[in-house]
Amino acid sequence: MPTGSILVADDDAAIRTVLNQALSRAGYEVRSCGNAATLWRWVSQGDGDLVITDVVMPDENAFDLLPRIKKVRPDLPVIVMSAQNTFMTAIRASERGAYEYLPKPFDLKELIAIVGRALSEPKKPEAALRSQGDEADAIPLVGRSPAMQDIYRVLARLMQTDLTVMITGESGTGKELVARALHDYGKRRNGPFVAINMAAIPRDLIESELFGHEKGAFTGANSRSAGRFEQAESGTLFLDEIGDMPMEAQTRLLRVLQQGEYTTVGGRTAIKTDVRIVAATNKDLRILIQQGLFREDLFFRLNVVPLRLPPLRERTEDVPDLVRHFFLQAEREGLPRKQIDAAALDRLKRYRWPGNVRELENLIRRLAALYPQEIITASIIEAELATPVNTAAPEEVAGDETLASSVERHLNTYFGGFGELLPPPGLYHRILKDVEYPLLSAALAATRGNQIKAAELLGLNRNTLRKKIRDLDIQIIRTSR
Ligand SMILES: Nc1ncnc2c1ncn2[C@@H]1O[C@H](COP(=O)(O)OP(=O)(O)OP(=O)(O)O)[C@@H](O)[C@H]1O
Ligand SMILES: [Mg+2]
Repeated sequence: MPTGSILVADDDAAIRTVLNQALSRAGYEVRSCGNAATLWRWVSQGDGDLVITDVVMPDENAFDLLPRIKKVRPDLPVIVMSAQNTFMTAIRASERGAYEYLPKPFDLKELIAIVGRALSEPKKPEAALRSQGDEADAIPLVGRSPAMQDIYRVLARLMQTDLTVMITGESGTGKELVARALHDYGKRRNGPFVAINMAAIPRDLIESELFGHEKGAFTGANSRSAGRFEQAESGTLFLDEIGDMPMEAQTRLLRVLQQGEYTTVGGRTAIKTDVRIVAATNKDLRILIQQGLFREDLFFRLNVVPLRLPPLRERTEDVPDLVRHFFLQAEREGLPRKQIDAAALDRLKRYRWPGNVRELENLIRRLAALYPQEIITASIIEAELATPVNTAAPEEVAGDETLASSVERHLNTYFGGFGELLPPPGLYHRILKDVEYPLLSAALAATRGNQIKAAELLGLNRNTLRKKIRDLDIQIIRTSR
C-alpha cells in the first residue's frame, strides 16, 4: 500500500471530493482546501509530501504560488491541473517547476499513477527556475483538442531536456513550428536555432552543408565554409525532411551522433559538437528502412522521443481556434477584419484538409484578402473549397511519390467529393479492385500475356490468377516473340 500525505487545492468542491475519495482509496492521507492561502500555509509549515493544485483559485493563481513553493521546498512535487488547456498552460506549468501538468478532465487512474511515480522517485535538485519571460506575446501552437494536449504535455516535459526528438506528421501539420517551440521554450533558447532541409539541398552538397568544408576540398570550394553543425553550436539543429537524406550522409551523421564530434569535408581534425537534434519527416521511415533507403541504426538514434502530429481532420475541434488565430494574424498584417458565421465554420470542420493547417492558413488568408464581405458565410467557403488550389507541397505529387501516399492522396480527394456524406458501402473491395486491375494487367503485359510467368512474378497461385483475370474481366493480349 502506498503511503504519503497529499495536499489538494481546488476551488471546485466537487473536484475536491472526487480527489479525496480516489486518493484515500489508493491509500494516501489527503487534506484539501479551496484557496491558495491555505495551501501556502500548509506547505510553508512543512506539511504534505505532494501537492495537487488547480491553476485558477479565488485568491491567487497557482503559477504565481509555484515559484514560492519551489523556493521553500524544492523537493516537493507539485501536480498542476487546469481546464485552460493551451500550449502556454502546459509550458508555464513546466517552467514554474510543476512535476506534471494534467489537463482537465483527466483520468483518475492516470493521476494515481503519476502520484505514485512522483512519490517513489529519488529527489533531485530542481533545474533552475526560469525567469518570467515575454510569455504573453505570440502563442506558437493553437488548438485545445485532446490530441494537441497530448502533444503539449510531451513538449512541456521535454523543455528541460536535451533529448533528441523525431517529429512525424503529414505535410502542413506543424512539424517545423513544434521544432521551433522546442527550441524557443527549451533550455537552449539563448543559443541558435539552425534548420536544414534535406529535400532542398542537392544530394552531393549535403555533407558539406552539414559539416562545412575546407578551402579546396572539392571543385568550387574556394574558401573555408562553416557547416550547420558549427552554426548550431550550443543551440538546436533541426534536420527537416530527414527521410530525404542520402545514404552516405546518413552514415556520416550517425557517426557524429555516436561520437559527439565531426570533421569538415576535406578537414582532418575532429571538432567537438554540442547541439540538440530535432528531426522531422512526413515519410514513414519504417518503410524507407525496409526499402533500404534509411539506416535503421540512425533511425533508433533519432527516434529517442517520437512525436506524431495528428492531421487536422483528426482534430476538427481545433478548426475554430485556428480560424480565429489566422484571421487575427491577417488583421495584424493589415488585412481587413473578418468574422465567420456558424454554418461556415461547420463546413470547414467537415472538410478533410489534405494540406492540414497550412491549407487552412492559406484559405483564411485568401478569405481575408479577396472577399469584401465582413461576414464569411458557408456559401463563400463552399465556393473556395470547390476551387482546386494546390496547397499541398506540389513537388510531392511528382516523381518519387510512393504508392501508399498516392493512394492516400486519391482517397482524400475521393472522400472530399462527398462533403459531409460518406461514399457508398463496399469501399474496401472497390479500392482493392482498383489496385488489382492495373497490377494484374501490368504483370500480364510485362510477361507478354504468359499466365504462368505472370503468376510467378506476382507470387500468386496460377489458378488464383486465372480466376482473378476472369472476375476482373482483364483482356489478355498475347504477343509472340
Ligand atoms: N497548431 C498550430 N497553431 C498555429 N499555427 C500552426 C499550427 N500548426 C501549423 N501551423 C501553421 O501552419 C503552417 C505549416 O506548419 P509547418 O510548416 O510547421 O508544417 P510542417 O509539418 O513542417 O509541413 P511540411 O511537412 O510541409 O514541411 C505554418 O505557417 C504554421 O505556422
Ligand atoms: Mg516543414
